[in-house]
Amino acid sequence: MNVDSLTQFIENDRVKTDAESFETYGKDWTKHIAINPIAIVFPKTTKEVISLVNWARQNKVALVPSGGRTGLSGAATASNREIVVSFEKMNRILNFNEFDQCVTVEPGVITETLQNYAKDKGLLFPVDFASRGSSQIGGNIATNAGGINVVRYGLIRQWVTSLEVVTGEGKVMQLNKSLVKNASGYDLRQLFIGSEGTLGFITQAEIAFTRPPENPTVLLFAVPELDGVMKIYHAFKKRFSLLAFEMFTDVAKNYVMRHTGQGEPLEESTPYYVIIEIDNTSETEIEAAMEIFESSMENGWLVDGTVSQSAQQSQDLWRLREDITEATSAWEPYKNDVSVRISKVPEFLTSVDQVLKSEYPDFETVWFGHIGDGNLHINILKPANLTSEEFIKSCHRVDEILFEKIESFGGSVSAEHGVGLTKKPYLHHTRSPEEITYMKAIKAIFDPDGIMNPGKIFD
Ligand code: MLT
Ligand code: ZN
Repeated sequence: MNVDSLTQFIENDRVKTDAESFETYGKDWTKHIAINPIAIVFPKTTKEVISLVNWARQNKVALVPSGGRTGLSGAATASNREIVVSFEKMNRILNFNEFDQCVTVEPGVITETLQNYAKDKGLLFPVDFASRGSSQIGGNIATNAGGINVVRYGLIRQWVTSLEVVTGEGKVMQLNKSLVKNASGYDLRQLFIGSEGTLGFITQAEIAFTRPPENPTVLLFAVPELDGVMKIYHAFKKRFSLLAFEMFTDVAKNYVMRHTGQGEPLEESTPYYVIIEIDNTSETEIEAAMEIFESSMENGWLVDGTVSQSAQQSQDLWRLREDITEATSAWEPYKNDVSVRISKVPEFLTSVDQVLKSEYPDFETVWFGHIGDGNLHINILKPANLTSEEFIKSCHRVDEILFEKIESFGGSVSAEHGVGLTKKPYLHHTRSPEEITYMKAIKAIFDPDGIMNPGKIFD
């Protein structure tokens, strides 16, 4: 395929075909997937995106949307001679509507840039996760991003008030136009959120901000038994509107400590840790937290704990959880990102523990996750004596067992990382044949030529 004709509507220097660009833009964080793009393009306007889609339809070439490339399911990977459409040059914050507390952005705006923009206005963009420094809003919307504050603020779905999209037919639509109430039929905005670029491109979004929490305070607890994790959750949830409730294991903590040089956060070392964030609006709040801490201690659910006394201490405690991905990345972790409804988490954790112990006796497993919203991240680290292929093969075998289990719990094979390529073979464990048939039919309407990120989510 000759991509030279792309320069009819996109300047020469925004069409790249060199190996270095392919290596950088051809994939996301799922680094083990082989890539094979034919070009990387960097549109600057919606008009250019429309021309690109029309060109792709005529030339029968597939397009892969690309944001900050922090995805973990291969959804932004070009392995089949596609053109990667990077949105990094569509990165302007266009307009702040003070009355509605909404901001209009282009898809390439970095998550942290938007968080800081909201902060400057005395407000909060509440979607937050460790890759905030490089992930982009368009990618967040395309995967319905979650993160550490879902337990209070929900997923990004809740904060997108309006979307401009270019469909796989090259048609532009303004979806919902930031109406709070809109009972005029199907909400196509919500359909595009989480569609992983399979229906069209997100070219603009309006995002709502909210009031920031008051004096957020972080608590870290050492938990001796798995069983204690959700008991502590329940006790805190009854009293507080939690900002975050996360767990990680001692294995995860040790990797972070080695990576960052941080010391032990608590005197007692236990197999599990829970990190909680609450608003600390008055003495009463901290007193209530201490009461729950003491009764949890009496019940044996926890054996040690600490409360942050400053923003710096909060950040240090959060690093124990947030730096896990980076601290383990050298071991080529095989990632699972699963969820069950919250009430089923205690039983689910015990069950996953059994599967991991019996199926991965020789592999190191690192667990952590947004357990307050039923989302567990299970990372299997590659032993040095196995090749990547051998390792992935073993993990796939265990996936079958793990996902059978997920299905029996009515859970999801992907809580927040998306289906992309890596979870595609397992979609049927979460979605019924009828659902998958309807999803394919919906794609065919928006993308009749199958040029929009084909092969992602389903074939
Ligand atoms: C996280 O919660 O830290 C992210 O989902 C990243 C990961 O799972 O590695
Ligand atoms: Zn996560």
